[in-house]
Amino acid sequence: MNAQKNLIDVRGVSKTFTVKSGTFFRKAAASTKAVNNVSLTIRKGEILGCVGGSGSGKSTLGRMIMRLIEPDDGAILFDGTDLRTLSPEAMRQYRKRLQIVFQDPLQSLNPRRTVAENIARPLMNFGTSPAVANRRVDELLELVGLDPRQSYRYPHEYSGGQCQRIAIARALALEPEFLFLDEPVSALDVSIQAQILNLLSELQKKLDLTFLFVSHDLKIVKQFCDRTVVMYRGCMLETGTSEEVYRDPKHPFTRDFLGTVLHVRKDSRWEQAAERAEDLESATRQSEAGCIYAGTCADRFQRCREAAPALTEIEGARHVACHLYSQPKQ
Ligand SMILES: Nc1ncnc2c1ncn2[C@@H]1O[C@H](COP(=O)(O)OP(=O)(O)O)[C@@H](O)[C@H]1O
Ligand SMILES: [Mg+2]
Repeated sequence: MNAQKNLIDVRGVSKTFTVKSGTFFRKAAASTKAVNNVSLTIRKGEILGCVGGSGSGKSTLGRMIMRLIEPDDGAILFDGTDLRTLSPEAMRQYRKRLQIVFQDPLQSLNPRRTVAENIARPLMNFGTSPAVANRRVDELLELVGLDPRQSYRYPHEYSGGQCQRIAIARALALEPEFLFLDEPVSALDVSIQAQILNLLSELQKKLDLTFLFVSHDLKIVKQFCDRTVVMYRGCMLETGTSEEVYRDPKHPFTRDFLGTVLHVRKDSRWEQAAERAEDLESATRQSEAGCIYAGTCADRFQRCREAAPALTEIEGARHVACHLYSQPKQ
């Protein structure tokens, strides 16, 4: 297999959500640009990390790749195919190749079904006989380090980490090539996090999987992912190998974000930055063209208010959307 081949190719994808609120007569519509003109590729066999704070558009991006949300603009190719061009039946077959693991395993597990029934469900949906499905359930449970003899139990009888193992087994049932891991360890204790990351890493190698791994923790992404993209309010601000982005963050946002992860009192510092962003947001909004981080950025200068910096290659695989690197200071 060609290791350089792109399994996922995201081209200029955007998504805006409009939420109506207020009374029947006075409905106000607020729109959020959840993802703003994002382009990225994920090579076959690669683990791409996606980091950013809450609401930065990570889940929306992943869900668009999964075709759970339709993008407003742009195109997403899976293994060279634009899935929009497929017939419903061809799309149904394609769906097997892409699976998702959520932060909360109970989002994919039905608490009223046994573990075996939960894992067998996707197989049965695709016409696997009960006998074959049962054998496959045993294999899958062994694969994720759980005892198949306990598969008659219900999810609530398992710990959080074990439930995540079950959710991973379920996601692997149809032998997918790509997993969207949406904060799969964020709800777990640190020691359990390491066990689940080890399991995912083993499975990735053993089954030659490709991952999009979402996290708000740059440290975890550095350990687990080959490359990283950094998101802020729907925009991709920086990308590079995970090692480089962590060791030598280029974008002022990434530096601030890394600071919040590494330093004590991280929450308050992050909240302060978020508050400053809110205060200055209106000013930035006046010139919609400006950099999305200009309101908060300590390094901003005139141009940052006037024009959005494009994601520009600065060295090797490093790309940064920041005027500090793309334009001469004014
Ligand atoms: N279905 C939806 N309807 C309305 N707004 C949404 C919806 N999904 C996400 N959003 C908004 O889009 C933004 C990005 O959300 P999300 O992709 O979930 O971010 P993240 O996963 O990085 O926390 C947020 O402001 C969120 O409130
Ligand atoms: Mg999310």
